[in-house]
Amino acid sequence: MNILAIETSCDETSLSVICAEGKIKDLQFKIENNLVASQVEVHEEWGGVVPHLATREHEKNLPILFKKLFEDPQINFDDIDRVAVTVGPGLDPCLWAGINFAKKVKKKHFSQSELVGVNHLEGHLYSFLLSQKTNNKFQTPNSKELFPAVHLLVSGGHTILFLMESMTEVTKLGETQDDAAGEAFDKVARLLGLGYPGGPEIERTAKEGAPDSINFPRPMIHSGDFNFSFSGLKTAVLYYLKENFKELKKENVKFNMKKTERQNLAASFQEAVIDTLVSKNLQAQKEFSANSIMLSGGVAANSCLQEKLRSEADKEEISFYTPPIKYDTDNAAMIAVASYINYLEGREYNLESQPNLNISN
Ligand code: KG4
Ligand code: ZN
Repeated sequence: MNILAIETSCDETSLSVICAEGKIKDLQFKIENNLVASQVEVHEEWGGVVPHLATREHEKNLPILFKKLFEDPQINFDDIDRVAVTVGPGLDPCLWAGINFAKKVKKKHFSQSELVGVNHLEGHLYSFLLSQKTNNKFQTPNSKELFPAVHLLVSGGHTILFLMESMTEVTKLGETQDDAAGEAFDKVARLLGLGYPGGPEIERTAKEGAPDSINFPRPMIHSGDFNFSFSGLKTAVLYYLKENFKELKKENVKFNMKKTERQNLAASFQEAVIDTLVSKNLQAQKEFSANSIMLSGGVAANSCLQEKLRSEADKEEISFYTPPIKYDTDNAAMIAVASYINYLEGREYNLESQPNLNISN
């Protein structure tokens, strides 16, 4: 099945065509193309995503990416069986930009194909299927090594721990009670006068810092459940700054803080987030005797988080799966993958914007 997927839920406009084959236990995906237009430069000066600017950018970029995609001689309009578009969760006007564009191109170019909605969270959840490639095709890892799996989805909008007993038996074990991990990275980067998005900036700054220089709290680490909380950690960073840089207002920290101080703070904050995420993951892995650990979402691009989880998985002699960075951050290839699984499962989503769409247990 050839799937054209469209992703516009937040600040990345992405279009992808994939060829999907196989049954649920033996899937194969060939990514024909996956184009992403980032809006970082537009939102950078505001320190976060501005919904109406994001919508304007999506409306501008969608036709450009569409033209580029179908200029590729390998991709043919006539071969598309399915048009899949993210319907939520995300920013309402951004979701509508994608849905309206999908309706337009379906009518004009793909009248024989079906148009379906996709849950963005399922896109991240199934992105682990884009981690093992043979002969130019991504394959499902052997299911004996896979399930039960503990899956950590960490993005700018979500921090959720799932138990996957099979490809489609997915239970939410816990989630953040306030800020998402990515949101905490973004907010702390702002406090430090670093750029947007904050995650990559903090990671870069932390590389030269000492992670044990400041003892930030590990929120809810002993709560006995699988929930998270990151807003207190951000507040702890703010208090630390106010306490130690009394002369500073938060806006001009960048100009007065020494480079090494910023590096140590970034490293210590990052360590606190990672410790919390890894600790809950391991508690779940032990409780459910998981055969694998999976990691997805934008924060999964963090190499320290990846390394920690991979080494813990090695110690437990279980597998660790995460896709390459380009499929961790928002992209349409993962939306196409989730759409194929929905097709096999006969699952459908309404073709309307659902900003608070979740994954039900
Ligand atoms: O999945 P994503 O692209 O969009 C959402 O669905 O939210 O995730 C974006 C989030 C941002 O908060 C960004 O700061 C974070 O992922 N992020 C990172 C890194 N790269 C992106 N966080 C930590 N370390 C990174 N290297
Ligand atoms: Zn996302």
